[in-house]
Amino acid sequence: MSHRTLTAEALVAGYERGRRVLDGASLTVPAGRRLALLGANGSGKTTLLRCLSGALEPVAGTVAVDGARLQHTRRGLRAHRQEVQLVLQDPDDQLFSASVAQDVSFGPLNLGLAEDAVRERVAEALALLGVEHLAGRPTHQLSYGERKRVAIAGAVAMRPCVLLLDEPTAGLDPSAVTEALAALERLRASGSTVVMSTHDVDLALRWADDVAVVVDRAVVQGVPADVLADDALLARARLDRPWALIVGARLRALGLLPDGALPRDAASLLAALPEGVTP
Ligand SMILES: Nc1ncnc2c1ncn2[C@@H]1O[C@H](COP(=O)(O)OP(=O)(O)O)[C@@H](O)[C@H]1O
Ligand SMILES: [Mg+2]
Repeated sequence: MSHRTLTAEALVAGYERGRRVLDGASLTVPAGRRLALLGANGSGKTTLLRCLSGALEPVAGTVAVDGARLQHTRRGLRAHRQEVQLVLQDPDDQLFSASVAQDVSFGPLNLGLAEDAVRERVAEALALLGVEHLAGRPTHQLSYGERKRVAIAGAVAMRPCVLLLDEPTAGLDPSAVTEALAALERLRASGSTVVMSTHDVDLALRWADDVAVVVDRAVVQGVPADVLADDALLARARLDRPWALIVGARLRALGLLPDGALPRDAASLLAALPEGVTP
C-alpha cells in the first residue's frame, strides 16, 4: 500500500432534478496528508465523500486517483474500491455480519483472496484499530464506539490507499476520540491517506494538515491556520473560528505568545506561554 493523490474536478452532484448539492466542487487530497472536510450540517460533506468513493455518480466533473480517472462501470468501480474506501457515519449502515471477524472479512473475501490472506488482512485491520479482542464477538453486542472502529477495520482490510471517514468522531466520548485519532495515525503510518469529514473546527485545527470547507455548493481548501481564521468564509459556511485561534490571537496581542504559527491545541498553547503565566 502506498499513498496516492485523490482529486475531484468541478463536481456537480445532487439527488433531485434541478437541485444541486455540489456545483463546481474541486478538491485535492495530497498523498500522505491528513485532510479534514469541514462544513455545517447539510452542506454536502457526505455527498462529496460519496462522489469521491464512487458510491454516487456526479452529474458532471471527474474523480481521479494519481491522475487515473474513475469510470462508473462495474470494472471501474471495482478498481476504484480497491484504492479508495468510504466508512459511513453510522456503523449500523455498514455492519451486517454476525461476528466482528466475519464482517471485517467480507471485503477481502469478495476480492477472491485465499483464506490465509484474508485472515492476515483481518488480523492486521483489527490490530490497527485496536479491536483484536473483539474478533469473536457478535456485532450487535458492541458499544457504539466499538462498532465505529469495527466498521473502519472493515474498510482498512481492503488496504485502501485513501481512506474516507464520514464523521468518525461524531457521538464518541473524549477518550474514544483520542483513541480514534491514534488509530488514524497508525493507518497513516501503514500507508493510507486519511480524509475525515467533521463539523468540529477545533478537531480539524488540531488534527489536519489541510482543510477543505464545503460552502455554497463548492469547496475552499487550504492550510488550517489560514482557512480557519477566515471569518468571512467561516460565516458563509456557518462555522465558528476554533477556540485555539481566538485565544491564541488575544494572547499574542497581549505579548504573551511569540511570533509564528499559533498553537493548535491546549497543550501546545500552554507550552508556548512564558514561564510564570502557566500554573
Ligand atoms: N439520499 C438523498 N436524497 C435526497 N436528498 C439528499 C440525500 N442525501 C442528502 N440529501 C440532501 O443533500 C444535502 C447535503 O447533504 P449531505 O451531503 O448529507 O450533507 P452533510 O454530510 O454535510 O450533512 C442536504 O440538503 C440533504 O438533505
Ligand atoms: Mg453527512
